[in-house]
Amino acid sequence: MTQPTANSKASDTTFNHSPKSLNSFAPRLLDWFAENGRHDLPWQQHKTDTPNPYIVWLSEVMLQQTQVTTVLPYFARFMASFPTVHDLAAAEWDTVAEHWAGLGYYARARNLHKGAKQLVEVIDETGEFPQTLAGWEAISGVGPSTAGAIMAMGLHHYGVICDGNVKRVLTRWAAIDGDITKSATTKDLWALAERLTPTENSGLFAQAMMDMGATLCTRSKPACLLCPLQADCLSHAQGRETDYPVKAKKQPKPSKFSDALLIESADGDILWLQRPDNGIWGGLWSLPLQFVEKVDGKTSGNTAKKVEANDDKLSNMPNDVRSNEKVYEAEFTTAEQIINEWLIKNELVAKSVSTTLLDDAPIKHSLTHFHWYLTPRKLTINATQITELNQTLAAAEIDFKWLTEQKAQDSLGLPRAMVKILE
Ligand code: ADE
Repeated sequence: MTQPTANSKASDTTFNHSPKSLNSFAPRLLDWFAENGRHDLPWQQHKTDTPNPYIVWLSEVMLQQTQVTTVLPYFARFMASFPTVHDLAAAEWDTVAEHWAGLGYYARARNLHKGAKQLVEVIDETGEFPQTLAGWEAISGVGPSTAGAIMAMGLHHYGVICDGNVKRVLTRWAAIDGDITKSATTKDLWALAERLTPTENSGLFAQAMMDMGATLCTRSKPACLLCPLQADCLSHAQGRETDYPVKAKKQPKPSKFSDALLIESADGDILWLQRPDNGIWGGLWSLPLQFVEKVDGKTSGNTAKKVEANDDKLSNMPNDVRSNEKVYEAEFTTAEQIINEWLIKNELVAKSVSTTLLDDAPIKHSLTHFHWYLTPRKLTINATQITELNQTLAAAEIDFKWLTEQKAQDSLGLPRAMVKILE
């Protein structure tokens, strides 16, 4: 999907509002923003004549799917460690991952790092950041709305945004009842967003739209009494604000079950594996996981011994897990397969970390496409076994580290699920 351009405006007859309503949208919104908007977010560039596109790009990627309050401390740390795009491009991936750990949706971090390198290439060639929408859309992790935001807020050029917040505001204001996951509806929403965006000050307008979506026109309790668009908001007139946006019902997420192995040395170091770049938590560090299959409502392990362990576990599963039919296929990284085989060969079984059966309920971690139930299991191995395991992993060119829980938390990029397990 590419953005419409400034001269591709649709005719006003295609919209649900009069030209007068359409024309007064931006001034009303901007007046509201001037009085009531957020003006002190650290990435905002509307008060300067020399905006910094790096800051806007970085913050917009962080703000995709993540709330402002969560992003603030991460943004501050990124800016302290990587004040320019050159610093970010030159950083080691592990350092970037460690800065990102906990923000979720890790593909964003990988794209950010890759994007920084691409931006440096553009700057080396042209002497400046990309200056066009297409130039920004060519950067990893930058979609049409992020590109529009960077054009408008990061460069003070013309740019249109149409992210989730904007879609909510617009579907309500214009009572657009098409499914927003469908491309025809997306097209209508982009056309409306473009019609409403003023040619001058599109950055201020973008910022105001984001604030409107985040603070007034919220998902479940819109503050219509305070809204500058209330007078001609078509869903408000119907008393049906929260029926918009219309979105096809999501299928319930499938569940996946894994044991998270705390393979420990006598002096308290634990084995950590770096996850492959492609796939969940790509490039971050994780405990070795062992997939646990669920058959006919019961979980069964990959080894005979683990079946017994998981029969215990099932009695502690929440009901929604037991009734959930759809279960993911077994999925191991190469390192995990090697470890699994090594455990079987050495007849080693990781044990429950809790002393009571009740405490043995897994940690639930929800990802975009499934719920992951992770049960920590511990296994202490001796120095000879460690040497042998290290040799086995090194021979397969696996990236691994032995670190205490604390050191791992302090120095590795750990996904939030791992931090939950350690806690
Ligand atoms: N959400 C996405 N981008 C944003 C921004 N620049 N400010 C506030 N919330 C946002």
